[in-house]
Amino acid sequence: MKILGIETSCDETAAAVVEDGQKILSNVVVSQIDIFKDYGGVIPEVAARSHLEVIMPVIKKALKDANCGWDDIDAIAVTHAPGLLGSLLIGTLTARTLAILHDKPLYAVHHLKSHVYANWLSDQTPAFPLLALVISGGHTQILYMRAHNDFKIIGTTRDDAIGECFDKVAKILGLPYPGGPSIAEAAKAGNENKYQLPHPRVENLDFSFSGLKTAVLRAVQKELNLPISHPSHDLKNHLTEQQINDFAASFQRAAVEILIEKLQKALEMYPDVQSVVVAGGVSANQALRDALPEAYFPEPKFSGDNGAMVAAAAYYEIQSGVKPTDPYKLNIYPRISIES
Ligand code: KG4
Ligand code: ZN
Repeated sequence: MKILGIETSCDETAAAVVEDGQKILSNVVVSQIDIFKDYGGVIPEVAARSHLEVIMPVIKKALKDANCGWDDIDAIAVTHAPGLLGSLLIGTLTARTLAILHDKPLYAVHHLKSHVYANWLSDQTPAFPLLALVISGGHTQILYMRAHNDFKIIGTTRDDAIGECFDKVAKILGLPYPGGPSIAEAAKAGNENKYQLPHPRVENLDFSFSGLKTAVLRAVQKELNLPISHPSHDLKNHLTEQQINDFAASFQRAAVEILIEKLQKALEMYPDVQSVVVAGGVSANQALRDALPEAYFPEPKFSGDNGAMVAAAAYYEIQSGVKPTDPYKLNIYPRISIES
């Protein structure tokens, strides 16, 4: 079964053709990073417009690379939640139109589910029950998965998502957007033991990352002997390259440690778990990969947003008996939980 997966929930326009949830026939991703680099973050209106400009060329290329015509495609899958409203609209409206035009069954997929299913895009697949650590720009959750398409949230962030924290800390340090890759790069030349950053005390399996961001801010101000009233956007002008690298490395170490502490706690609470999978943009992080040698990670190119994971998620939904949605009625949900 060949599924065309379409993803536009944030700032990547992506489409892919995947056979039987695993064999990647094509994978096309157009990132808007170059547009948003100068702004230090995504501007929703601009993101929606650029999705519209490239979505049809991206889909056409995905079909061409896969050597497929519309007759070869068995179903269309698209991200309908959660994400930026305008971005989700462009992807879903395009998918709805194509489904009607070419008379294909249409599947609406939750974005976090897709991220998790990036771990099924390879020969070695994880065993159930499992824990999924989903870490992206918008989410930080630990999910318990008893079987395919069966998700229970057992931990979530109470404030910022971890990717958001990487992005905000990068901004303080004057490193380019998106912060994750630029912090990881700067950290390579830094001393991760230089600055001691506190781990938040949050009960159960929940996370909190806004305190870590503030801790970095205070540590930078202290290092520079500047008062806490000093504007955060100006701090970067006073830091040396070595200080920036040391802050990046110390922050990355704290972020990785916080994730691992909670994961260990979750494993103690769910002793029947057979495997751990990590997913979402932050799962590209090499320090985290090194710290979790036994966990499943997607290939780095499938850590961030892509269409292949959407097609894989839809395939397993179909296997679990999920029926296609009515293309005339499909709705978007910018903020909906994976459990609903
Ligand atoms: O999953 P994703 O592409 O989009 C969302 O669904 O949010 O995740 C984007 C996030 C950004 O915050 C970015 O800084 C982070 O993933 N990220 C990383 C790395 N690569 C991307 N964070 C840490 N280390 C990385 N290597
Ligand atoms: Zn994502």
